[in-house]
Amino acid sequence: MTAGPLLELAGVSKRFGSIIVADSLSLVVRGGDAVGMVGPNGAGKTSLFSLISGDLSPNSGEVHFEGRAVTRLDSAQRCRLGIARTYQVPRSFEHMTVFENVLVAAYRGAGLRGHAASSLAAGVLDEADLRKQANSPASRLGLVQRKRLELARALGCKPRLLLLDEVAAGLTEPEVAGLVEVIERIRARGVAVIWVEHVVRALVGMVDRLICLAGGRIIGDGEPLAVLASPAVKDVFLGTSYGEASQT
Ligand SMILES: Nc1ncnc2c1ncn2[C@@H]1O[C@H](COP(=O)(O)OP(=O)(O)OP(=O)(O)O)[C@@H](O)[C@H]1O
Ligand SMILES: [Mg+2]
Repeated sequence: MTAGPLLELAGVSKRFGSIIVADSLSLVVRGGDAVGMVGPNGAGKTSLFSLISGDLSPNSGEVHFEGRAVTRLDSAQRCRLGIARTYQVPRSFEHMTVFENVLVAAYRGAGLRGHAASSLAAGVLDEADLRKQANSPASRLGLVQRKRLELARALGCKPRLLLLDEVAAGLTEPEVAGLVEVIERIRARGVAVIWVEHVVRALVGMVDRLICLAGGRIIGDGEPLAVLASPAVKDVFLGTSYGEASQT
């Protein structure tokens, strides 16, 4: 592991017409960190993930990963360096089996071939508790397994930084607890995690640090309960108690 930050954003801005989704954002994440991210709908959370993963390029500012400027690299290149994400709407290949879906990630994301790729994919299915579904087509999975497959596809890229976009949305409380266990295991291997979730209870138990985003800006960053208690953060969630925060 490098001594410097794993991820560093310096003055990253992104606009869509008149909408500012990232307003000169600066952020440092260290190897092995577990960071939660909250913010109202439209705050710019998914856009921030896209700016980190390379699905979007910023209008200005720089993104560094392990000390290297990656701002001009595309998402496939950044994935090879160790940045993987899940998508809010799962993007699995429906006609392929669960195992094949993860194998594609091992080939394309991690750059492995043959036995190395299949053994990585098998290990990932174990880690995500999907071994029993290995030979089912993705199209047959229920919601919780779909979310696990989305996570497994990201893990198939062998990330050092994992960006989770609402992987717990729509799940029951026991299903969320099961997913938190999986994410804890991933984190225990030293993978840094940034986890966007409206189900704040799931986050607070797991992360060391919580960031609140609103209007493309960081309005809270620190110890989770302190961030949730801060007036600026309470303000943007006015009318929504955290226990009942929307699960969209
Ligand atoms: N490709 C795009 N083109 C134009 N506008 C976009 C695009 N992507 C996002 N937006 C807009 O940017 C704003 C931020 O969207 P983003 O998806 O990043 O928010 P979010 O915090 O992830 O919200 P949610 O909690 O609903 O997932 C929204 O107003 C959205 O409509
Ligand atoms: Mg989003």
